[in-house]
Amino acid sequence: MAYGVKMIGRLNHVALAVPDLGKAAATYRDALGAQISAPLALPEHGVTTVFVNLPNTKIELLEPLGADSPIVKFLERNPDGGMHHVCYEVDDIRAARDRLVKQGARVLGGGEPKIGAHGKPVLFLHPKDFFGTLVEIEQV
Ligand code: CO
Repeated sequence: MAYGVKMIGRLNHVALAVPDLGKAAATYRDALGAQISAPLALPEHGVTTVFVNLPNTKIELLEPLGADSPIVKFLERNPDGGMHHVCYEVDDIRAARDRLVKQGARVLGGGEPKIGAHGKPVLFLHPKDFFGTLVEIEQV
């Protein structure tokens, strides 16, 4: 990919880790009046998710699933919950990965895309390379 070519597209979602998914989903539905999805268990990612559908993006509510869930430590540090990651859309996830690696970013989990919550390939980028925020990229 040529240097300077646009890579990231739309904000796909912002993910919030929460200690109680049922309570968080009910709060978004009842207090904020949001449209929410049914809970979806993703054992490969160690989370159960509920999506809050907003007109311009989504909020992904995450609760740990299983003992070695990647968000257990996050919730130990943030017991009330908190912002866990942002997800940007890309056209070609392998091209995006190669460019990121060339630019010095660390790709988590060995660098091979996994299928994410929307059935599309995703990768996660080290928060230390993105100013303290875990970044997910998703091929759309
Ligand atoms: Co996500």
